[in-house]
Amino acid sequence: MSKTIQSPAGAEHARILGTGGYRPSRVITNEQICQVIDSTDEWIRSRTGIEERRWATAEETVGVMSIAAAGKALAAAGVEAEQLGCVIISTVTHLSQTPSLAADVANQLGAVNAAAFDISAACAGFCHGLALAQDMVRGGSAEYVLVIGVERLSDLTDMNDRSTAFIFGDGAGAAVVGPSQTPGIGPVVWGADGSQYDAIGQTFDWSRLRDEPDAGFPALRMSGQQVFRWASYQMVPVAKKALERAGITADDLDAFIPHQANNRITDAMIKALKLPAHVPVARDIAKTGNTSAASIPLAMERMLEEGEAPHGGVALLIGFGAGLVYAAQVVVLP
Ligand code: UT7
Repeated sequence: MSKTIQSPAGAEHARILGTGGYRPSRVITNEQICQVIDSTDEWIRSRTGIEERRWATAEETVGVMSIAAAGKALAAAGVEAEQLGCVIISTVTHLSQTPSLAADVANQLGAVNAAAFDISAACAGFCHGLALAQDMVRGGSAEYVLVIGVERLSDLTDMNDRSTAFIFGDGAGAAVVGPSQTPGIGPVVWGADGSQYDAIGQTFDWSRLRDEPDAGFPALRMSGQQVFRWASYQMVPVAKKALERAGITADDLDAFIPHQANNRITDAMIKALKLPAHVPVARDIAKTGNTSAASIPLAMERMLEEGEAPHGGVALLIGFGAGLVYAAQVVVLP
């Protein structure tokens, strides 16, 4: 007769215990961008909402930014690095194929008891990480999980490309997820539409450099209008489903924190969701640009710090990007 083995046992619920962000030191204005591409401050502001973005210096590596954001999140959560059971990093700009950035960051933080790995889910990466973290805490594979979204998109931006040079920024955002007596992270609604695989990507993959050393460095490219339409229309039912699965309505929200891709996408979602005027909406894109996996935790941190969203309030998060992939959930703010 086969032996019976134990199942893991976790906490009944999970929640975000603390967040932290890191904004790199170099402020890049629209005027600076327009010194290279044929554009104007007015066009960039009115088409995206971006006034300026941050670009990392050579010293502000993805590792350095991750550790800074994580340190703040751990302190805010009151959790020690040794208590972490897992470190998940979402990034598309860790430019070394292996090992993972998470293994290095976990080591430097002193997270000696943590598993560590990276995920690639582009601008939906933070919401993917939160979903995994809550499953781990509830499933019993980790008591505390550190989720980091970090990007140095300036490394993969062609500053001469009029369709992308103005949009991306750098930064890191982190959250510590741990056990809770009450529900703190709602059911995730996520998915992937690989039929639009080519909508956002690199100009060419790294393997070309092996055969053509003079090919230069790859850069991000994006079919802006295609992604814009998909995000503005297809993400609305996803957001609605996340509210429905959490058992609340748009009226119950204390904050709406969508991926900071374009203020016009945010406006289209607000309208389609019939979001009441009393719900504050993240507009961190104005000062930060589009930081992909870092955008939602950075926007969350700003709203909490500036008193725009209440601690303990309920927020709808939705991330969407290259893949095309998406993830949305309702969370209780730390
Ligand atoms: O984070 C991952 C997900 N990413 C997104 O969600 C991004 C989604 N896409 C977008 O946010 C928008 O598509 C962009 C902001 C990237 C572009 O805005 P758009 O309104 O879609 O611009 P467009 O490509 O449709 O171009 C409209 C006009 C064109 O001129 P005409 O043909 O109407 O005369 C372009 O030539 O704007 C012109 N244009 C520019 N003008 C000044 C395009 N790029 C620029 C520019 N400066 N940089």
